[in-house]
Amino acid sequence: MAGAEQLKEQAGIAACRFVTDGMSLGLGTGSTVRYSIIEIARMIKEEGIEVVGVPTSEDTKRLAEHLEIPLRTIDVATNLDLTIDGADEFDPKFDLIKGGGGALTREKIVAKASNSMVVVADETKQVSTLGGFDLPIEVDSILWEDVRDGISGICPGEVRLRGEDEDPYITDNQGFILDCSFGPTISNPESLEREISEIPGVVEVGLFVGICDAVVMASSGGVETLVKPDGRL
Ligand code: A5P
Repeated sequence: MAGAEQLKEQAGIAACRFVTDGMSLGLGTGSTVRYSIIEIARMIKEEGIEVVGVPTSEDTKRLAEHLEIPLRTIDVATNLDLTIDGADEFDPKFDLIKGGGGALTREKIVAKASNSMVVVADETKQVSTLGGFDLPIEVDSILWEDVRDGISGICPGEVRLRGEDEDPYITDNQGFILDCSFGPTISNPESLEREISEIPGVVEVGLFVGICDAVVMASSGGVETLVKPDGRL
């Protein structure tokens, strides 16, 4: 039976069937999409495809540079053909929780600038209702306590600063992350995203609603591609 790492590798590589010559690609962040990025580099070297990537984090930028994938910066990224990225959870409507790796803000910017999005995941990420994974929210580093108080009025569980109070996790944008324990209760992610976004000091919410078009999911039974019926792929 395939181990967790092999499942990630299988999903990451399989998603690259959506990659074709000439594409501009959003390159996601995380341990699963890492395998897609390695496969894209192989396709460039061995199959001669020409693509340009837009990295969603400094980690992904370093990896893509190391693999010699041509890159474009996020500030000039519009109208990308496809983004491939991981997720922490996906539900039957293809809505997502992202940000376990802290890169949610740039991930959402790049995904929204793309004409399609494919998520790579193993079967542990598939849920019926979002929220079992604590929802990451990027917040302004000065206002984080006010934002935490605001979110506590919405979130039924704990709202924790990622890292320690004295040594918080810092994002690529110099923000902080609040991890919010909603539990598997997020049945209307769209309205929750809107409600949280209205709190001053919130930079981005790790809910990706109506953005993902397909999930390439690896399980012990093999790799399955779930395509959103009314999606863009
Ligand atoms: C990064 O901020 C996240 O959104 C990742 O895409 C997500 O956490 C999935 O990562 P893994 O593939 O490592 O589980």
